[in-house]
Amino acid sequence: MSTSDTLFAGSIPAMYDRYMVPLLFRPYAEQTAQRAQALSPMHILETAAGTGVVTEALHGALPTAEIKATDLNPPMLQEAARRVTSPNVRFEQADALDLPFGDGSFDLVVCQFGAMFFPDKVKGHAEARRVLRPSGRLYVAEPLARGPHQYIIELFHDETAVRKGAAEALAKFARPQFATDQIATYAEKRSYSDFDSFAARMIANMRFNGYTEEAVLAPAVRRRFEETRAAHGGRFDQPVRIDCFGPAA
Ligand SMILES: C[S@@+](CC[C@H](N)C(=O)[O-])C[C@H]1O[C@@H](n2cnc3c(N)ncnc32)[C@H](O)[C@@H]1O
Repeated sequence: MSTSDTLFAGSIPAMYDRYMVPLLFRPYAEQTAQRAQALSPMHILETAAGTGVVTEALHGALPTAEIKATDLNPPMLQEAARRVTSPNVRFEQADALDLPFGDGSFDLVVCQFGAMFFPDKVKGHAEARRVLRPSGRLYVAEPLARGPHQYIIELFHDETAVRKGAAEALAKFARPQFATDQIATYAEKRSYSDFDSFAARMIANMRFNGYTEEAVLAPAVRRRFEETRAAHGGRFDQPVRIDCFGPAA
């Protein structure tokens, strides 16, 4: 079993949906849906759909588009199916590295915060390309390991290497397969009223990551929190990078 099999299994999907989605992922899903809407796709594949927060936003923005939302872990999709019920949205278990769809089936593949988990990112990007029509687009959103939030959390949860790996794979293996890459970055606004609310959120997320409560509550983390709060006026934004690969303009 790979890490991503075990990470998003068991009782995790319900907890993920309850704790992480409202706190962390919903605002990004709205961004993704708005940007996808501008591309007017009719046949969308979502990989690593998780508990369906992006699926729901995509369907809200593009109600007549047919959406196939897939994920490696069926329990995540069970949560997703509770969230969205529509004849235009279908959920299906699928490994993004080995998609059970024919060549050229979709005009948009969306992957938000999933590619970082692919054990073989080359295969993942190649599969997305294969199932896209020649005119199709691949939309990938990944957080960036920088900014005020990162500066604090790197003391107990440093994601620099995993983010770097995801970005390198996009640059090396996805970009050459498409004629254009429109890159956008945006910073999701985050604010915490005080250290305790920051720590409570980090501790709620702890089950999905490899850190401990003690590590979150360490004096050095508190110091960085206060330093960052003073420097950025109480904002702890998390930057995200979007790559939208497509045909030549
Ligand atoms: C952080 S969640 C993101 C979920 C969703 N896209 C969102 O933004 O809330 C990562 C998801 O990637 C899925 N995943 C990991 N490896 C995968 C793979 N090889 N193929 C498909 N999904 C995978 C996990 O099961 C999990 O649901």
